[in-house]
Amino acid sequence: MNLPNLLEAKKRSSKQVLIKTNEYIITENLKKIGAGKKYFVKTYGCQMNEHDTENIKAILEDMSFMEADIMEDADIILLNTCAIRENAHNKVFGMVGRIKHLKQTKPDLIVGICGCMAQEEHIVEEILQKYRWLDVVFGTHNIHELPRILNESLNKQKIEIDVQSIEGDVIENIPVKRESKYKAWVNIMYGCDKFCTYCIVPYTRGKQRSRTPEFILNEVNELVSRGYKEVTLLGQNVNAYGKDLNIDYGMADLLKDVAETKIERVRFVTSHPWDFTDEMIDTIAKYKNIMPYIHLPLQSGSSDILKKMGRRYTKEKYLELFNKIKTKIPNCAITTDIIVGFPNETDADFNETLDVVNQCKFDSAFTFIFSPRVGTPAAKMEDGISIETKEIRLQELNKLINKYSKEANDKYLGKIVPVLIEGYSEKDKDMLMGYTDTMKLVNVSGNKTMLGQIVDIKITDVKTWSMDGEII
Ligand code: 5AD
Ligand code: SF4
Repeated sequence: MNLPNLLEAKKRSSKQVLIKTNEYIITENLKKIGAGKKYFVKTYGCQMNEHDTENIKAILEDMSFMEADIMEDADIILLNTCAIRENAHNKVFGMVGRIKHLKQTKPDLIVGICGCMAQEEHIVEEILQKYRWLDVVFGTHNIHELPRILNESLNKQKIEIDVQSIEGDVIENIPVKRESKYKAWVNIMYGCDKFCTYCIVPYTRGKQRSRTPEFILNEVNELVSRGYKEVTLLGQNVNAYGKDLNIDYGMADLLKDVAETKIERVRFVTSHPWDFTDEMIDTIAKYKNIMPYIHLPLQSGSSDILKKMGRRYTKEKYLELFNKIKTKIPNCAITTDIIVGFPNETDADFNETLDVVNQCKFDSAFTFIFSPRVGTPAAKMEDGISIETKEIRLQELNKLINKYSKEANDKYLGKIVPVLIEGYSEKDKDMLMGYTDTMKLVNVSGNKTMLGQIVDIKITDVKTWSMDGEII
């Protein structure tokens, strides 16, 4: 049993990150374990987790498991979890409760928890106290060991827990089963060293470690040759890309090199305002295939709160960067993340946030009430603000955000925009859906020959969250 350890997870050494190209191994024996059996993986949280699930699915298929359409049909269920806020945690344990009933009717069912929650010391303690009937727990650092971990779990009656609290390496040979045939996630870096005071990510995902440009460009070129139209470069803080590689090659260089492949659309998430260089902005402005869309988390508009959050920029610096981007890339859509109710956030602090929103008029925003995360500095800060006040602030903020989202969308009415048609609409299965270059969701009627194509669409109706369009 390897249990997570918060103190270990927090450590950062100057040790060189190892790039391991043959760490994922699967023996002939393990390749047959899943024959005739089905798996179901449920994913919570961010794009990084979605991409990890693509790795987990490929590994399970290497072990001969097949994907089940519904959880009830599966012989193995894995929950790939998120630790960023308390509600993600509640959702997972709600689901665990549902699965317990399933396991009572199907005793051979294997049930596992992986992802960010598995990296949390207090969560694994809770599992050991209340959910010992679970079969397997593994973390974000040892996905590539899934065949061995699963095999050990199958061979014993007790729960198998294997979580590594390490800074982490870069494992290059994990297989992937991609969700889409047209757009792909490409990891460019793992982990985070920023340690914003509210955030659990540096503890659950380890030290910042960049993949080398060669591995990334090979992956993009391979995707192009297989007909992919879009890549999203993934990292917790992509602007810091390359800083750990000691090769004088950063995010602007990588963006340039990826844009010069034949991929039609390049996106990247997530940016931190701190590392966003002028060179990056110029590169995004220069290349037509780098999409004019930037997710730029604000978190708070109050310089005092930003300081307490450890964000390393002020309200003024954020606005300066925002305006620079809008000047150099005039059609650029900018979205953001905002936390309300950080410990002892005053009305004046909150008004500063509203002021930034009024100035920036974001295309959209994800807004959250601060959620204390065990082990982070902010969780220990005194907080005199009631939850009622925080909820009222969130509602007020959302109203303003929605107003500007609708206003930003209104500008598209009657315009012709390129949309990568990627699937069927959630609401109406007869309709197709896709995203504009600026990441606006568009529903359109058409036929399946349009799937995977970038099509010019005339926008005929706009709502707060989506638009309707027609082929011209
Ligand atoms: N409480 C509330 N929101 C959080 N986020 C990260 N940590 C917390 C927390 N403890 C938000 C930030 C981040 C987004 C992914 O989640 O806004 O940008
Ligand atoms: Fe968390 Fe800050 Fe790192 Fe983003 S940059 S993952 S908010 S610590």
